Amino acid sequence: MAAEVKEKNTIVEIHGYKKYFNEGKKNEVQAVKDVSFNIYEGETFGLVGESGSGKSTTGRSLIKLGDITGGQILYKGKDISKISGRKQLLDFRKSMQMIFQDPYASLNPRITVKDIVGGALKVHGLYKDSKKRTERVYELLEAVGLSKEFANRYPKEFSGGQCQRVGIARALAVEPDFIIADEAISALDVSIQAQVVNLLKDLKKENNLTYLFIAHDLSMVKYISDRIGVMNSGRMLEVAEADELYQAPLHPYTESLLSAIPTPDPENERTRVRTEYDPEYHNYKDLTKVGLHEIAPEHFIYCHEDEIELYQKKRERLMREGQKYA
Ligand SMILES: Nc1ncnc2c1ncn2[C@@H]1O[C@H](COP(=O)(O)OP(=O)(O)OP(=O)(O)O)[C@@H](O)[C@H]1O
Ligand SMILES: [Mg+2]
Repeated sequence: MAAEVKEKNTIVEIHGYKKYFNEGKKNEVQAVKDVSFNIYEGETFGLVGESGSGKSTTGRSLIKLGDITGGQILYKGKDISKISGRKQLLDFRKSMQMIFQDPYASLNPRITVKDIVGGALKVHGLYKDSKKRTERVYELLEAVGLSKEFANRYPKEFSGGQCQRVGIARALAVEPDFIIADEAISALDVSIQAQVVNLLKDLKKENNLTYLFIAHDLSMVKYISDRIGVMNSGRMLEVAEADELYQAPLHPYTESLLSAIPTPDPENERTRVRTEYDPEYHNYKDLTKVGLHEIAPEHFIYCHEDEIELYQKKRERLMREGQKYA
């Protein structure tokens, strides 16, 4: 999978990013405390973690919805907090699109698919001629596996999977370079999830896209991600290439997420042991030495400096033992 990414050009760089809501007030929420990672051009970066870990907040900050509390987010080498003015913002919005979790809620129920998808073209001044615009809408619908008959219908007439395809067509309409899919398949039936994941994979190839694929568990991300980042309580705890993460999950939180995935083999399923993650386990006293450390090439763990060697040994052992979470 990772071999598809030939040259590693960085498209997104996130350094020490923090996002607090209601800062300084009684009801302050430290949604993101310390997150750093890069996304390479052409890859799919999977971002996982349980509910409330700060994944959507990270995605929303990346697409520049609201200010951040600390750190820096660069897109194509440019600090996004410096993007200003209508033209720059419009260019940025054209380049980066988002697909949302709830396919029904994310589409306006009162307008037809033609206007939903065509509306995105209008906003960006693409295909100004209405006939050409309609042709383009048909093309986009076809690209996501919907016939042009869908164009004059309303979202409520569709299944969840079909709605999500419309959402994808709308995101694709402006020919973006980067798409954030925030739990884009979570609301769909498992069989439909696989179809939409395959569609996203095909579209990525055809349109040279880069994805940030957000999910709350590690089951489906495996099939789409080149690299995966694991978040918990507003922190990035582990980042690794997908194959490596499943073979050598090092952080106890990653292990707990993997142990939660049911296995198709009944024999393995019978003996599967779910581990629970207890953050108290670390009990870090000297926080100055705690951070995201690269313990092997492209494999990062949030840990204390003193733990690096332990994690390195654990990795060597797991790499030798072979795939546990296939
Ligand atoms: N606008 C807001 N105001 C106050 N708190 C917020 C706001 N948005 C998010 N939060 C809080 O920030 C934390 C992180 O939320 P976020 O939505 O990023 O989590 P998530 O990882 O996407 O979870 P989920 O898997 O449920 O989507 C949560 O405690 C949430 O309640
Ligand atoms: Mg979310």
